[in-house]
Amino acid sequence: MSEARKILVTSALPYANGSIHLGHMLEYIQTDMWVRFQKLRGNQCVYVCADDAHGSAIMLRAEKEGITPEQLIANVQAEHSADFADFLVDFDNFYSTHSDENRELAELIYTRLHDAGHIATRSVTQYFDPEKGMFLADRFIKGTCPKCGAEDQYGDNCEKCGATYEPTELKDPRSAISGATPVLKDSKHFFFKLPDFETMLKEWTRGGALQDSVANKIAEWLDSGLQEWDISRDAPYFGFEIPGEPGKYFYVWLDAPIGYMASFQNLCKRRPELSFEAFWSKDSSAELYHFIGKDIINFHTLFWPAMLDGAGFRKPTAVNVHGYLTVNGQKMSKSRGTFIKARTYLEHLNPEYLRYYYASKLGRGVDDLDLNLEDFVQKVNSDLVGKVVNIASRCAGFIHKGNGGVMVDANPEPELWAAFQTAAPGIADAYEARDFARAMREIMHLADRANAWIADKAPWALNKVEGKQAEVQEICALGINLFRQLVIFLKPVLPNLAAAAERFLNVEPLSWSDHAAPLANHSLNAFTPLMTRIEPAKIDAMIEASKEDLAAQATEAVAQGNGELIKEPLAPEINFDAFAAVDLRIALIEKAEFVEGADKLLRLTLDIGDAKRNVFSGIKSAYPEPSKLEGRLTLYVANLAPRKMKFGLSEGMVLAAGPGGSEIYLLSPDAGAKPGQRVM
Ligand code: 2FM
Ligand code: ZN
Repeated sequence: MSEARKILVTSALPYANGSIHLGHMLEYIQTDMWVRFQKLRGNQCVYVCADDAHGSAIMLRAEKEGITPEQLIANVQAEHSADFADFLVDFDNFYSTHSDENRELAELIYTRLHDAGHIATRSVTQYFDPEKGMFLADRFIKGTCPKCGAEDQYGDNCEKCGATYEPTELKDPRSAISGATPVLKDSKHFFFKLPDFETMLKEWTRGGALQDSVANKIAEWLDSGLQEWDISRDAPYFGFEIPGEPGKYFYVWLDAPIGYMASFQNLCKRRPELSFEAFWSKDSSAELYHFIGKDIINFHTLFWPAMLDGAGFRKPTAVNVHGYLTVNGQKMSKSRGTFIKARTYLEHLNPEYLRYYYASKLGRGVDDLDLNLEDFVQKVNSDLVGKVVNIASRCAGFIHKGNGGVMVDANPEPELWAAFQTAAPGIADAYEARDFARAMREIMHLADRANAWIADKAPWALNKVEGKQAEVQEICALGINLFRQLVIFLKPVLPNLAAAAERFLNVEPLSWSDHAAPLANHSLNAFTPLMTRIEPAKIDAMIEASKEDLAAQATEAVAQGNGELIKEPLAPEINFDAFAAVDLRIALIEKAEFVEGADKLLRLTLDIGDAKRNVFSGIKSAYPEPSKLEGRLTLYVANLAPRKMKFGLSEGMVLAAGPGGSEIYLLSPDAGAKPGQRVM
C-alpha cells in the first residue's frame, strides 16, 4: 500500500441548545463511516467536532431555563456526546466553540484579517427591543405580514403566504422576547470584505473541492457578485468579544468554523503525534474535509475558505455536501411522529440498523435521502440478518460439532474466493468516493453469491451422508472465511457487529488488508447471534414515543435551535408551471382492502376514467373498515412516478390531510365530479 495519508475530517457543529435528531445523524453517520474506512485502511485520520455554543438563541434559552449559558451548553454537550457515542459516531475529539483555544484562534484570525485590510466598519440600522435592551435578530421579531395580513409572523418571512420581506416592512412589529414594540436604532458593525477574495474563490470552487452541482450553485452566487459579510453583534450576546471593541461580539458564524481548528488544537494536547501546523499551515500536505448539509454551503465554501486564506492558513481539500433527510417521503414532522430524536430511536432500536440503512442509500450527491420505515425494516432484516449473519450461523455449528471448533485449511471453491478478492478494490473505491450505496450493493452481491453456493452445497444434507464429513468441514471453513471478508468490508458501517464477529472468529481487530489472507487451522469461539431482526412493533413504538415528545414541547412556540420551528413552515414558493406539472385527477375508489403484513397501508383500486390504478396508501389507521371507502370519490396524483413496494407497485397517490393516526381525512370533490376529470 502507498504511504499513509494524513486526513482531518469534520462534521458540522451542532447547536448547543437542541437535541440531535435522525436528520442530524445522517451527517454524523456518513462522516463516521468515511473516517472509519480511512482508519481501517491504515491512514492517519482524525475526526473532530464540537458543540456550536454561541449566539442569541442559546443566551435566551438559558435565560428562559433560569440557568447560565455555560450551564446550558454543558448540559447539552453531555446529551450530545452520549447520543453520538451510542450511535457509534467515534470522534477523536468532541469539543465546544466556547473554549480558550477557540477564543485565541478567533482573535488571531480576526486580527490577521483586520491587519491585512479585510475588515470594514459601518453603521447599521436595526430593530431594538427597548425593554430587553438588545437588538433583535429577524426571528425574534413578530408582526403582521405586509403582504397577506396574517398575524403573528416572523420578521423575515410569512408562514401563511410564503412572502419574504425586511423586518421593517412588518406591520405592528413587536419583540418576540418581551412583547415590546421595537424601535429602530443605529450601531457600528464589522464586516468581512468577502469581495477581496473573489478571484481566489472562483479558482478554489472550480478546483475539485466541490461536487459539481454545488460548484454550479456557487458559480451563480459568484457571478451575481459577493457582498461584505456582517460578522459583529452587539451586547448582550453570548460569544467572544471582538478584541479592542468593548460591547461588540463575533457573530456566532464567525467563530463556529474556527471551532474545527480549536477542537483539533485541543486534541493535539493529548495526542503528541499530531501537530497543529502539520494540518493547518498554508503548505500543509494533510487533507482536510468538511462534511455538511446543503443549508450551510455558503458559510463553508465562501466565507470559511476566504477567512482561512486571508489569515494565512490552508484551505479545505473538499467540502462534502449531503441532502436532507425525509421520513416516509416527507419532511420530518412532529405531528406524524417522524421527527425522531436520536435518543428516542436508541430507546427502541439498534443504531447499526440505521447506519446500514443510511449507507445503503447514501451516494456522492446532494440528493435528499428518504428513510422509508417499511423499506428500512425489510432491507435490514433481509440484508444483514438474512444474508450476512446467516452465512456464519449456517456454518459455525458444523465446525463446532464436527471438528471441535477448528476451521480446516481448505478452499473448495477457488473461483468464489477469487471473486471476493477481485471485488475488494471496487468496494474500497466506492467508500473512498463516499458512494456508500454502491459499496453496500457490491457487498450484498457477494453475500448473495456466498449464500447461493452454501445452499447449493447444502452441508446440512451432506453431513448426514457417510464419508462426507470432511467435505462439510471444507465447505464451512470457506463459508466462514467469506463471512470474515464481508465483516471487514462492512466494518466502517457496522463496528459493533464487526467487534462481535471478531470475538466469534477469535481474531484481533481486523483491518482492510486482512481480507486477503484466509483463516486456516484456526480455532473459533462459540457462535452467538450477531444481530437480530427488526420487529415492526418497535418502529410503531418509536413513532408513538416521538409523538409524545411533541406533546411535551407543543407549548413552546418560539424558534428552537437557531431557527428550527415547531410548526411546519410553508414549503418554498413554486411558480405556476411547477404546480401545473402535477396532474391531479378525480378518482373513484372501487375497492379498498387491507394489505397482508402492512401495519399502515390500504390497497386502493382506483377508477380514473379510462383506466384502473393500484395505490398503496398509509391511511389504515383512520379507516379501520376499508370497504366503507368503496364508491367514494377522491383526489389522485396521476403522474407521480410509480413506486415499487414489497407488496407491489404503487401507482400514484390519493390526497388526505390531518396530523395522522385516526385523524387522517381523505379529500373528496363536491357531488357531480366524474372519475378522470382534471383538478385545477
Ligand atoms: O447549522 C448549524 O447547525 C450550525 N451550528 C453549523 C455550524 S458548522 C461550523 F461551521 F461550525
Ligand atoms: Zn403573508
